[in-house]
Amino acid sequence: MAKETLTVTDNRTGKTYEIPIEHEAIRATELARIRVRPDGPGLLSYDPAFMNTASCKSRITFIDGDRGILLYRGYPIEQLAERSTYLETAYLLIKGELPNAEHLAQWTHNITMHTIVHENIKAFMDGFRYDAHPMGMLVATVGALSTFYPDAKLIFDPESRRIQTHRLLAKMPTIAAFAYRHAIGMPYVYPDNALSYTGNFLNMMFKITELRYKPNPVLERALDVLFILHADHEQNCSANAMRSIGSSQADPLSALAGACAALYGPLHGGANEAVLRMLQGIGSVEHIPDYIKRVKAGEVRLMGFGHRVYKNFDPRGKVIKKLADQVFEVTGRNPLLDIALELERIALEDDYFVKRKLYPNVDFYSGIIYQAMNFPVDMFPVLFAIPRTAGWIAQWLEMVQDEEQRIARPRQIYLGHAQRDYTPIDKRPEPRG
Ligand SMILES: CC(C)(COP(=O)(O)OP(=O)(O)OC[C@H]1O[C@@H](n2cnc3c(N)ncnc32)[C@H](O)[C@@H]1OP(=O)(O)O)[C@@H](O)C(=O)NCCC(=O)NCCS
Repeated sequence: MAKETLTVTDNRTGKTYEIPIEHEAIRATELARIRVRPDGPGLLSYDPAFMNTASCKSRITFIDGDRGILLYRGYPIEQLAERSTYLETAYLLIKGELPNAEHLAQWTHNITMHTIVHENIKAFMDGFRYDAHPMGMLVATVGALSTFYPDAKLIFDPESRRIQTHRLLAKMPTIAAFAYRHAIGMPYVYPDNALSYTGNFLNMMFKITELRYKPNPVLERALDVLFILHADHEQNCSANAMRSIGSSQADPLSALAGACAALYGPLHGGANEAVLRMLQGIGSVEHIPDYIKRVKAGEVRLMGFGHRVYKNFDPRGKVIKKLADQVFEVTGRNPLLDIALELERIALEDDYFVKRKLYPNVDFYSGIIYQAMNFPVDMFPVLFAIPRTAGWIAQWLEMVQDEEQRIARPRQIYLGHAQRDYTPIDKRPEPRG
């Protein structure tokens, strides 16, 4: 008998059920012991959008939304942002511990050695229309990667999993930069393996005719910190997509394409793009009160505000605000910052936002920083997908090795027609409305 139980009495039958509580949760399948109909399945729990359902046990990322805490493998995000690098943080997320110097050097080497993509990937990307959204290109090209590496299907082989991990971390920046270069009609820039992970990404994005691209160290570090902040965020929409697709034993490259697609939406990875468009649309500080009015009337949302789990300040938002000052010292101040700061000031005092616990999230400032660094708005979700690759892989690796996991298959509450006979077309009623 479990130490802690929940006692449920079925008022219809008078029967009582003891449901074990473990890790502050009950197993939803325990509810199936409660029969609803003698011949039907047991009682279901109904939870659209997984508002109160844990889909896995995880040891990767911890969030306490009420207290504004985010930990990767136990380490506070603020400490990692201050002292770690993106590749070290990726190692931590994926392997569970911080590496020693030798392991970090080997890890960095292994990823750096995989940065080049097959030449046919370039040809494949050439096929996109000149104005293709880089996130659409990323989704499709990452999906196409799986056709280049059929060994990725060996998901139960640790060596295959290790190589796919290196490939994905290494090739995401290359594909991302190629998508951008395609959109602006510039030649693709091959990786420079003498540069850091983010230094090389800036090289592939922005190199023109210089023999060797030298990234600005402040911007290189700022991008690295932004990558650390975006590396994982436990069971969000795209992590859930990664796990759900992976649960059918699809290869991780295909699963990651699906995770990218989930990230594309404006409520998730597209939010920083949406924030910037919103700020541009507001145009100047005088128009803010009008915009707030429209938000409160439910006509529009204040993009970059609110979060499913943070009902306090998003700890990543605090780090980003500091980072913005460092970046603007190099790039000059982004005029949209004034609108953002004023919008934040008003919203944090306004009853509508206070009551609903709506605070700026990670995306509120990241877009302004990216724009100051010369990244076009279309690239924003791509800039989220690159670092989130570490988190997706960590989530996928945990899922693949979790013996409790099976193919993801939610249940439904069917409210449609009962069985009925097919009606010939001339006997069907006129459509209504
Ligand atoms: C992130 C987000 C999808 C979380 O949504 P959620 O947890 O499902 O929260 P809900 O949509 O149920 O919102 C709860 C209440 O706050 C309001 N609300 C939430 N976010 C809001 C926003 N950004 N602007 C205005 N109102 C907002 C909702 O209208 C709702 O109000 P109601 O109770 O009067 O109906 C949502 O806050 C949002 O759309 N934010 C803007 C997009 C964004 O920044 N996404 C990035 C996430 S990292």
